[in-house]
Amino acid sequence: MNYHITLLPGDGIGPEIMAVAVNVLKVVGSQFNFNLEFQEAPIGGVAIDTTGEPLPVETLEMCRNSNAVLLAAIGGDKWDNLPRHQRPETGLLALRAGLGLFANLRPAQILPQLVDASTLKREIVDGVDIMVVRELTGGVYFGTPKGVFEMETGEKRGVNTMAYTESEIDRIGRVGFETAQKRGGKLCSVDKANVLEVSQLWRDRMTLLSSEYPDVELSHLYVDNAAMQLVRWPKQFDTIVTGNLFGDILSDAAAILTGSIGMLPSASLGASGLGVFEPVHGSAPDIAGKDQANPLAQVLSVGMMLRYGLNEVAAADAVEEAALQVLDLGYRTGDIMSEGMKLVGCKEMGEVLLKVLSSQM
Ligand code: IPM
Ligand code: MG
Repeated sequence: MNYHITLLPGDGIGPEIMAVAVNVLKVVGSQFNFNLEFQEAPIGGVAIDTTGEPLPVETLEMCRNSNAVLLAAIGGDKWDNLPRHQRPETGLLALRAGLGLFANLRPAQILPQLVDASTLKREIVDGVDIMVVRELTGGVYFGTPKGVFEMETGEKRGVNTMAYTESEIDRIGRVGFETAQKRGGKLCSVDKANVLEVSQLWRDRMTLLSSEYPDVELSHLYVDNAAMQLVRWPKQFDTIVTGNLFGDILSDAAAILTGSIGMLPSASLGASGLGVFEPVHGSAPDIAGKDQANPLAQVLSVGMMLRYGLNEVAAADAVEEAALQVLDLGYRTGDIMSEGMKLVGCKEMGEVLLKVLSSQM
């Protein structure tokens, strides 16, 4: 097999963690007999600086013509005050919309090696294994009308619209049910149906869909309660399916249960099979260029890319296994450091990973 991979290193620590991920990919490629061709393109702040736009058309085209896209991180203070259409985040949203990536999978699994890195008590988080399935190209992020409009009185009014069609709900609902089928068979749909019409429709469609998935146990929670339950007793959750904004918020909450957001990968998938794989964390401008970043979320994103994007399951297993092994060996970056462990930088973490990978075979 020959795969074309588009690399989008982006801003901040992006290039550092991407370098580690690419080395990992090269090694597993040769171990599992597939060939990788990499092409790199700008997105986010670097793209704004070089082209004036956060998602140049050439970047989107390159992504469209590849088998999978590996993204690191975008954004930074430098671009925070630009008009909205020129902000790094706008580039990310345009990438999701442009590639039709409506399903975002965000696993939050606590690793036994890192239980004590969580801010919650061991008995609460030990064993947590949640998959958040977030709708990614609809809802209030994309609904219209949107904008800041001047009223007759001269006062300004800001507007966004939370909207979902039945077909948009159904397609993410199916991803939720199918994901639950492959996991613990429990799906919790999160909405705000006690207040929002759009959420009532969401709930009705999920209930309707559930008759097609008799092997999945469906439950519903209002989003405020879901946020509370996530920190109260997270082990009650297996798979969560929810809209764009609620998923944005709940996936951050689920992420931090695991101790460090520096450990979590994500996959954004569409109908075409093309996916974007990226860590959940941001570009961490404060530590950029200092060789302090944790590359493991990026490496685990490589794992998700191999599994969900390229169907190279054995290679995905090897990458994930190697990431766990470096933790077992006691190596830690600053964000997950604890007593008695060996503090390493981004580069050294990458080198240890390569050693472990090479000796796995
Ligand atoms: C995320 C981020 C993005 C989002 C931002 C950077 C636009 O928070 O991927 O969760 O809100 O979707
Ligand atoms: Mg977010």
